[in-house]
Amino acid sequence: MFWKRSYGLIMVGLLLVMMIALLLSGSRLFTDIEEEAHIEEEDRIVVGVSQLGSESGWRTANTESVQNAFTQQNGYFLIYNNARQKQENQLKAIRSFISQRVDYIIFSPVVETGWETVLQEAKQAGIPVILMDRNVDVEDESLYVTCVGSDFEKEGEKAGHWLERELVQRGVSGQSVNIVILTGTEGSSSQIGRSAGFATVAEKHNNWNILEEKCAEFTSTKGKEVMKTFLKRYPDINVVVSQNDDMTFGAIEAIKESGRTVGVDGDIIILSFDAVRGALDMVADGTINVDIECNPNQGEYLLRVIDMLEADETVEKMYYVEEDIFTIENVTEELLQERTY
Ligand code: AHR
Repeated sequence: MFWKRSYGLIMVGLLLVMMIALLLSGSRLFTDIEEEAHIEEEDRIVVGVSQLGSESGWRTANTESVQNAFTQQNGYFLIYNNARQKQENQLKAIRSFISQRVDYIIFSPVVETGWETVLQEAKQAGIPVILMDRNVDVEDESLYVTCVGSDFEKEGEKAGHWLERELVQRGVSGQSVNIVILTGTEGSSSQIGRSAGFATVAEKHNNWNILEEKCAEFTSTKGKEVMKTFLKRYPDINVVVSQNDDMTFGAIEAIKESGRTVGVDGDIIILSFDAVRGALDMVADGTINVDIECNPNQGEYLLRVIDMLEADETVEKMYYVEEDIFTIENVTEELLQERTY
């Protein structure tokens, strides 16, 4: 009887010892993984990215490109923030990156002005700032290290030169041409550059009448709204220059609803910017006459720049991404299949 009771006690004791051992080894295992993760995180390069918003298809592609570049596998820890088109949100995000002592700050400035103070703060904290997509207008260029983005002025010029050639081909280059322009976010590099580039070409043609330029904030809804007012105000529009594809989609809807026609066989010529998949489909079917590409795939370029900085190599102040121009002649099935955005 006694033997049986002490045997039972021994078994309970053994079980207890085993459970404690298991718990200890379990918690040890857990600690190891945690420590490892922590160490790994410390080994990685911490990048704070302030994206300006999500106003367009182009912007979504740009965000994806950055998120696909700064991955754990590539050795990065990414802190991402969407500023929803508000400069004050970008300022807050940048200040929070500074207080988190990130290794690099990357941001796409919603407008060009108003960044001196926060960039000064980043510089004092010793954090290199890299601009993406758009530029800043600052006196002291040492406030940022480099910029990866588009040559917006050149894009505007490309649009102007395409129109020159098109009018010659149609045999109407000597006639009066009525143009309306849908512009993007006022004060942004893409708006400033595209407007200036197109204007340099337009200025050379006395018969190009720019009836009106109006901001439609790079969105489809605004594009439609502004185009409707243009159509009411001007019954004789020949050309629409729309500074991004989203505004173009809205503008085309408004034109079609008004009973007018667009594109290669239509009575209003459409010039657009970005060349996202949906717009290239419309170039292929003749709805949009020309699309000036703006390349959102900037993640790879940014990776290369950081690699160079990590290797103490000198970087240039500006890196332009590669961009093309698309018409019905060169939008191939292969290109459409390849375009992921
Ligand atoms: O700055 C790039 C522009 O911003 C793109 O053309 C537009 O689609 C985006 O919103």
